[in-house]
Amino acid sequence: MGQRGNWSSRQAFILAAIGSAIGLGNIWRFPFKCYENGGGAFLVAYIIAMLTAGIPLMIMELSLGHRFKLAAPLSFRKIGKKFEWVGWWAVFVGFIIVCYYAVVMAWGLNYSVFSFTQAWGTDTGTFFFKDFLGLTDGPYQLGGFQLPILISLIIGWILIVGAVWKGVKTVSKVVYVTVFLPWLLLVVFVVRGMTLPGSMEGINYYLYPHFEQLLNPSVWIAAYGQIFYSLSIGFGIMIAYASFLKKDAEIINSSIIITLSNCTTSFIGGFAVFGALGYYAQLKGVAVESVLKGGPGLAFVTYPTIINNLPFSRFFGIIFFLMLLTLAIDSAFSLLEAISSSMRDKFNWSIKRSNITVAAIAFLIGLIFTTGAGLYWLDIVDKWIEFFGLCVVVLVECVVLGWFFKVDKLRNYANKYSEVRISKLWNYLIKLIIPIIIFALIITETIKLITKGYEGYPASALLIAGWGVVILLPIVSIIFSRIGRKEDSMDSEIILPKTPFIDKLGYLRLNRYLYAIGILAVVMAAIVIGSNYYQSLKSFIVPAIGIYFFLVLVGGAIYFTIISIKDGHRRDEWAEQALEKD
Ligand code: PHE
Repeated sequence: MGQRGNWSSRQAFILAAIGSAIGLGNIWRFPFKCYENGGGAFLVAYIIAMLTAGIPLMIMELSLGHRFKLAAPLSFRKIGKKFEWVGWWAVFVGFIIVCYYAVVMAWGLNYSVFSFTQAWGTDTGTFFFKDFLGLTDGPYQLGGFQLPILISLIIGWILIVGAVWKGVKTVSKVVYVTVFLPWLLLVVFVVRGMTLPGSMEGINYYLYPHFEQLLNPSVWIAAYGQIFYSLSIGFGIMIAYASFLKKDAEIINSSIIITLSNCTTSFIGGFAVFGALGYYAQLKGVAVESVLKGGPGLAFVTYPTIINNLPFSRFFGIIFFLMLLTLAIDSAFSLLEAISSSMRDKFNWSIKRSNITVAAIAFLIGLIFTTGAGLYWLDIVDKWIEFFGLCVVVLVECVVLGWFFKVDKLRNYANKYSEVRISKLWNYLIKLIIPIIIFALIITETIKLITKGYEGYPASALLIAGWGVVILLPIVSIIFSRIGRKEDSMDSEIILPKTPFIDKLGYLRLNRYLYAIGILAVVMAAIVIGSNYYQSLKSFIVPAIGIYFFLVLVGGAIYFTIISIKDGHRRDEWAEQALEKD
């Protein structure tokens, strides 16, 4: 416990959490989920998922880590000895992710170098799949290591370990670069994307709402799944990050700022992606649908082609891959930090020992993804981990906290210190509503995967890398919770200030925001419904949707940030008084 450092400031903490949340998922996952699932209608589901699950779970993980000042496994042990494995499980799900996330980051590193000479040429698809990945015909044909990827993987891991070298002390500095730089570069791409000829076609595809899709359960699955993944919830990251907060740290407003900043980035990123795709479609003289692709195909095949056709193409190539790299790295090191801080808490390892050991093992496991069959395995692991790792862990977390711990105590705890307060509704969200939603989501998806298989991969491969991995993780977690340090002497008394910082005003602040969203939603609904009767309203739908989500996300982020800035000095005074009294 002695070596548990602190964040250098509140901003550093918030930026680190934002950096973890904002990653490749915002750029290549979100826009396509959105298009596939009804455009503007998906955004409605997404915002509902953000409000009902994203923000509440973020508050839950941050208050848990802050309350016990321990990483996930031992935080859960504090709730009950028999729950330690839940924390390990979350952390191991993150461990599997970092094994392949680092490989994707390595591709980004290679491509950053390629962009100086545009080594990908004109046939970017063949270059990526055949020349670069050396993709074989199936998962069992490994086809040897791809040397350039292997070398970048080593460099990638050195960078990741370097970023957490002295724990949060180093992270506190690194995040100023790894969060602001990709934001800046993203703005460049949004402006460039939106000013290209044909971009408006693309944006129309992105935002045009197909509201009938809201009746389709898979749209909701996609929305909730994307929220968990994107916010990095359920991997023990936020629990670990919050464990380095000072005693009197603010939690609720920080959670809201983190969540809104992440969702804003996704939303805005969509304009860069779809603007560029609209241009690309026009260039090829085809319809926008035919160029829509998510995942690696977008970043490593479609985007290089778009870049080839831009003026100053070299410049845009370099900054595009630099953006991917800086987006990915803070997500990767947050995972490493979640795992290695768990190791330190449990086995009393030093910071360096824990970082290097975890990184070395993750590197070795990651080697499989650098072979010619790597992409196949990556695809399978990614799919299974998302549902049966991530979603199941979040479900178990909610059940344990909701039913075996007094959530109301946790709520009070968070409320006392915070600039924004949450009502009892939060308890019900954690205890009932979120678990029910996730449960329904998992059942639907399991049935689909069992009956339909996945992307035509051989069943045995799914059994190994899919089901095998997700079944193994809880078993390993149980073993981990049984070994090692047993003493439970660490005391975790709660220091609650006697004078609450902000009373009614705290509730009011959140309500104001929610009311504003609601009233604006009515206006938007009126435009959409009205367009059935007045043709002329039709052309307002896409701009109205765009403006609405802009206000909800960007406006919300600004509103809550202003609150935190305004309260800043008052908080300091208050905290001093409150702690003096104890
Ligand atoms: N949130 C990251 C993204 O959107 C992905 C991620 C998941 C990162 C889990 C770390 C841990 O890309």
